[in-house]
Amino acid sequence: MGFGQTFFKAHPSINPYHYEMAKEKSFDHAAVASAHALASMIGAAIMQEGGNAFDAAIAVQFSLAVVFPEAGNIGGGGFMLARKVNGELIGLDFREEAPAKASKDMYLDEKGNPYADKSTRGALASGIPGSVAGMFSAHAYAKLPMAQLIEPAIELAEFGFVVSESEAKGLNSNRNSFIKFSSSASAFTKKENWKAGDTLIQTELAATLKRIQANGAAGFYEGPTASMIVKEMAHSGGIINLNDLKNYAPKYRTPIEFEYKGHHIISFAPPSSGGILLAQMMKMIAPFDLAKMGNNTAASVSLMVEAQRRAYADRAEHMGDPDFWKVPTKTLISDTYVKQRMSDYVAGVKGTSKLINAGQIHESEQTTHFSVVDKDGNMVAITTTLNDSYGNKTIVAGAGFILNNEMDDFSIKPGVPNMYGAIGGEANAIQAGKRMLSSMTPTLVTVNNQPFLTIGSPGGTTIPNQVYEGLVDIIDLKMSLKQSIDGPRFHHQWMPDNIMLESDFPEATEQALKAMGYTIMKRGRFGRMDGVQITSDGKRMAAGDKRGDDSVAGY
Ligand code: DON
Repeated sequence: MGFGQTFFKAHPSINPYHYEMAKEKSFDHAAVASAHALASMIGAAIMQEGGNAFDAAIAVQFSLAVVFPEAGNIGGGGFMLARKVNGELIGLDFREEAPAKASKDMYLDEKGNPYADKSTRGALASGIPGSVAGMFSAHAYAKLPMAQLIEPAIELAEFGFVVSESEAKGLNSNRNSFIKFSSSASAFTKKENWKAGDTLIQTELAATLKRIQANGAAGFYEGPTASMIVKEMAHSGGIINLNDLKNYAPKYRTPIEFEYKGHHIISFAPPSSGGILLAQMMKMIAPFDLAKMGNNTAASVSLMVEAQRRAYADRAEHMGDPDFWKVPTKTLISDTYVKQRMSDYVAGVKGTSKLINAGQIHESEQTTHFSVVDKDGNMVAITTTLNDSYGNKTIVAGAGFILNNEMDDFSIKPGVPNMYGAIGGEANAIQAGKRMLSSMTPTLVTVNNQPFLTIGSPGGTTIPNQVYEGLVDIIDLKMSLKQSIDGPRFHHQWMPDNIMLESDFPEATEQALKAMGYTIMKRGRFGRMDGVQITSDGKRMAAGDKRGDDSVAGY
C-alpha cells in the first residue's frame, strides 16, 4: 500500500501508517497542537509550504474529519477565533443551526415529556452542519488554494491511516449504534473489532471531500452530497431539507475581550457562552492573590468554584443565540455587575444554587480544539464538534461522514437538563434558524499587544472552566503551558450543585472541600486542552493534553 497522490508524496516524513505523538515541543517559527499527530503534522507542513495559520487551520480541520471521526468533522460545526498579526480579530461562527422545520417542543411527547434520545441519537438530533461553510469563510484569510488544503484529508481518507488504540476502542464501542442509526453500512463497521494498528480507509468520505475540492462549499451543501444528507434524514426521522443546506451561512461575531492581571484575553461571544463565562469568572477572582492561596488548595478551589456557580447561573438564564435572544453581554461582563455578583461571597463558605435539580452529567465528551501560531504571529484557535462522541451515530449513506447531535445543546424544555446536565429556558429554546448555545471557548491571549497564547478544549459545559483554570495556572501560578494543560481539573456549573473533581485531584483538598460542605463527585477526566504559547524568546511552545492522542508539530 502506498500513497500515490500529491501531498504525501511531497512529504515522505509524514507517514499515515506509522506516526508518533509529540506532547510538548518548542519550535522556532510555527506550531500546531491538535487532537491527532497526523493533523498537526499536516498543519505544520502546510505552513512550511508557504501557508499561514489560517491555511494550516483549514487543513487541520479537514484532516481531523478523517483521522479523528469522533469529533473532527464535516458534519458538525464550531467556532474560529483568530488574531491577525496586525491586531485584527476574527470571530467566525460556523455553529450548526436548527432546520426550518424545527420547533420548540419537537423533542417532547404529547404529555410534554422529553423523549429518551431523540435529541441525541439519529438524524432528528442533527443541526444543519456548519463546518464546511466555515472553512470556506476562513479561507478569505488564507494564502494557498483551497484545493491544496483539502488534499491531505482526501489522501488520508482514500488510502487510509493507522488507528490508535483509543480510536479503535471508540469505533468498537459505537459499532451497534452506527448500525442502528445509519441507513447503510459504513467504513466504521467491519466484521471484526478494530484494534490499534488497523488501517481505516474511508472511500465514501474521500469522494465527498473531492466534491468539496472540485465545487467548493456547494460540493457539500448542494448536489449529490446534499441529496445524500436529505436521503439519510428519512431513515431516522430527520428534518434537514435541501433549502436548509443551501441557505446555511457562517456569521461573524465580535469577540469578548477583557483584561486579567496584565493579560488581554479574547474569547468567543454568543452563541457560545464561553467568552462571557470566562470574563465573568476571571473578573470575579481578579481581586484575589491566587498565587498566595496556592495551587488546588481548598481556599483557591472554593473561591474559583463560587465564581463558577454565579457565572453558570447566568448562562442558564441569559445566554442563547444573539440573533434570537437579547443577550445582555455588556452588563454580564461589566465590572460593576461582576463585583455585585461576588458581594455575597465569604471566603471559605460554600454558596448555594437555589434550585436543586440533579442533572445527569454525561461522561463521554468529544469535541476537539486545536491551536495554530504561524511564523508571523497570526494566531488561530478552533473548537469544533459533533457534540457527542461520533455525533448522533448516523453516517450519511454514500457520503461517509457522521452527523452531529448538536440539537441537544438547545434547552428542549425549561429546567430539563441536556447531555451535560445544563439547564436553560427561553433564551436557548429551539426555533427554526437559531443556533444552539455552546460552551466552546477558543481563547487567545496577548500581552502588551503581542501574541502570547492560544488555547481551548473539548468537554461540553466543563470547557469554560478548563480554560479558566488553565489561564489561572499560567498567569497566577506561573506554570508552563504543559503543566497547566495536564493538571487535575475541577468543575462546578451552578446546577447540579456539586463540584466534579478529576480522578487525580489531590485527596487532601477533596476532604477539605467536603468539610466546607461541598458535595464532591469524582469523574474520570475532563477534556483535552491543546495550546501554543509564544515564549519570551519568540519561539512557539506547543503542548498537547496527556488525556488523549493529542500531539504537536511545527518547524
Ligand atoms: O457546543 C458545546 O458546548 C458542546 N456541543 C460541546 C461538546 C463537547 O465539548 C463534547 N466534548 N468533549
